[in-house]
Amino acid sequence: MPHVFVTGGLGFIGSHTTLVLLEHGHSVVILDNLSNAFERVFTHMKKLAGDKADKMKFVQGDLRDKALLDKLFSEEKFDAVIHFAGFKAVGESVEKPLEYYDNNFCGSVALLEAMRTHKCMNLVFSSSCTVYGMVEKTPITEDFPLAAVSPYGRTKLFQEDMYRDVAASDPSWRILLLRYFNPVGAHPSGDLGEHPVGIPNNLMPYVQQVALGQREFLRVFGGDYPTPDGSAIRDYIHVMDLAEGHVAAVKLIVEDEKLGCKPVNLVKLIVEDEKLGCKPVNLGTGRGTSVLEMIKAFEENTGAKVPYKVVDRRAGDTIAVWAATELAESLLGWKSKLSLADMCRDQWAWASKYPQGYETPVKEDQQ
Ligand code: WQD
Repeated sequence: MPHVFVTGGLGFIGSHTTLVLLEHGHSVVILDNLSNAFERVFTHMKKLAGDKADKMKFVQGDLRDKALLDKLFSEEKFDAVIHFAGFKAVGESVEKPLEYYDNNFCGSVALLEAMRTHKCMNLVFSSSCTVYGMVEKTPITEDFPLAAVSPYGRTKLFQEDMYRDVAASDPSWRILLLRYFNPVGAHPSGDLGEHPVGIPNNLMPYVQQVALGQREFLRVFGGDYPTPDGSAIRDYIHVMDLAEGHVAAVKLIVEDEKLGCKPVNLVKLIVEDEKLGCKPVNLGTGRGTSVLEMIKAFEENTGAKVPYKVVDRRAGDTIAVWAATELAESLLGWKSKLSLADMCRDQWAWASKYPQGYETPVKEDQQ
């Protein structure tokens, strides 16, 4: 089974994806510079991996350390790379654009140079629906025009453009750009989840803190949108569904390589090109959920209370965004399975067990 290099593998989506890769029989090397993760995540992952724990290894390091990348690619003979590593806070990216371009973009250049040198040309990239910018209509298909509305979004878009150029320069590259919508939830065990950093910008980490009593109430940004209940709509997707999507992407790329660039799932888009090349794929549920619907679902499925106040709209927010999922189904043979209730229940199990995330004091039974 493929030996996979996972950059940023101790992060929220990377850690969940690594566990699912192990479940599917893969072996994994994680590289993480711990700039936005805790080494304790790896301890939790080993506990959850059980007898497969020896199939994953953690290396602390930075993508810009070219000597380290050269050493890893020489020793490990990776079959594919899943690239998660990157800063991801929209607001922070406005204050620190240079750090975002250096870490997110320059780190990726170093990664691709190492991949090319060592002839590992199979890449799954953690992209984002943010590359669609301010969308006017929905559902969003992969051929929508691209635009970025923040330095963070531009680092994702610039990376996508670089990968398209690289794939156009050499047909040996097989690259899938997975555009996530709104990742939420946590591992069903309650022992892995998203670590809350400061005052959360995103909805679900904030809902979680209100439900825990760490914050007084949730501000609902806008109650006058042209939607059924007036609040904005998004496509929330369970992180475990996202993880399965990455495994399906690795499978397609590696099989496509073995079959000599004849795609496993013949779809019009690829048959015309005859090569996998570089393809974007939306990872969403294809369903829209409003903020008020999410609050209701959270209360109904956890028993917790989420007091809120409707306030002004947040600048830069769109009215309604959800994914078209046909390409993910036809190309990857993947579709989301987990419900809003699963997302809320799993998010709450994690929050209740680890109210301070990975900084929650360790109890005896969690040694
Ligand atoms: C969701 C909805 C808010 C907080 C972000 C990133 C994007 C991508 C997906 C990474 C919106 C409302 C939120 C709150 C609220 N991530 N909200 N009160 O803005 O859709 O996209 O995640 O690539 O880059 O921008 O997600 O969770 O911030 O907001 O009412 O305290 O919840 O207005 O309608 P968003 P979000």
